Amino acid sequence: MTQPSRLAIVPFVSVDSMMRLVLTIGVERFLTELAGYIEEDFRRWELFDKTPRVASHSHDGVIELMPTSDGQLYGFKYVNGHPKNMREGRQTVTAFGVLADVGSGYPMLLSEMTILTALRTAATSAVAAKYLARKDARAMAIIGNGAQSEFQAMAFKALLGIDRLRLYDIDRSASEKCARNLAGLGLDITICTSGQEAVEGVDIITTVTADKQYATILTDNMVGGGVHINAVGGDCPGKTELHKDILLRSDIFVEFPPQTRIEGEIQQLAPDHPVTELWKVMTDKAIGRTNAKQITLFDSVGFATEDFSALRYVRDQLQKTGLYEELDLLADPDEPRDLFGMLLRAES
Ligand SMILES: NC(=O)c1ccc[n+]([C@@H]2O[C@H](COP(=O)([O-])OP(=O)(O)OC[C@H]3O[C@@H](n4cnc5c(N)ncnc54)[C@H](O)[C@@H]3O)[C@@H](O)[C@H]2O)c1
Repeated sequence: MTQPSRLAIVPFVSVDSMMRLVLTIGVERFLTELAGYIEEDFRRWELFDKTPRVASHSHDGVIELMPTSDGQLYGFKYVNGHPKNMREGRQTVTAFGVLADVGSGYPMLLSEMTILTALRTAATSAVAAKYLARKDARAMAIIGNGAQSEFQAMAFKALLGIDRLRLYDIDRSASEKCARNLAGLGLDITICTSGQEAVEGVDIITTVTADKQYATILTDNMVGGGVHINAVGGDCPGKTELHKDILLRSDIFVEFPPQTRIEGEIQQLAPDHPVTELWKVMTDKAIGRTNAKQITLFDSVGFATEDFSALRYVRDQLQKTGLYEELDLLADPDEPRDLFGMLLRAES
């Protein structure tokens, strides 16, 4: 067998490499540095090619492609969302992604993104909260204690100094798993028996449940003045978590309006209901929180630039850590036009 040439090789970050990368860097440092990349890309928002993700919906879930480019690099993520999967021993969300060089079109990185998506979603939520939550926020409720939940908790601890967590899930064993995984990491954790109990006295409410329907995880009476809501789970047409009345009392912040209007909590509102783009708050083009009584809502659906930032961050860690494999991904004949000749010579 002939050895692949250098041009044939693309660095590949497997699930195992990703886990070792996160643990080598440290979860909180990884989240903090990743948040820096995400924020940096939000600040150069106008540079990016932006399009709502390409979604293929089916009865049980959705498969999506999420592309973007800053003119130098191109990235895309393949991701699914299948709430029923968990009951069959599979992940609700799995993903992988590619970063490529715009100049040559050659991929520069192929990476697992199931773990990376959980990290980037949590880092994005925490970046948004840094701008929108009250500065004295220390207590957070997390409703929905599945795969994403611990990542959310750790990002809010690392970036905002959250030290009290109140957990609720319709399946208590999910809350117990979440509390067990976070034990000893500097969070004071209470498992609650209802959503109502979980939100008592908190400054931030994170909803991160999975259900393929219009759910009502939070009703209007559960949300007091001054709270910041980080609504993560409602991210598909027909899939929301908040009662509409909460939206009408909140100042709403979004990633990319054309995508959020279709997928986010605001699909329940009129298409021209005012929302503020997060990048504008970060670049002082719009105002975030103005007072301690205001309810702020980050209507998170997940946007392609966040995955682009995450791939960029991972790429920048590879040479330092060596935590990747070399994948023979690109055909590279000695003479570029002799692709068929290369195929024939492989026989000998
Ligand atoms: N906004 C984003 O960028 C983004 C990124 C990743 C995932 N998500 C979404 O986040 C959600 C959670 O993802 P996951 O990977 O943690 O899923 P998961 O299936 O691992 O966990 C979901 C949890 O929600 C619980 N739950 C369901 N209905 C509930 C209810 N009514 N009240 C309380 N708990 C309830 C389930 O018991 C389960 O433990 C999904 O909807 C996913 O699509 C959004």
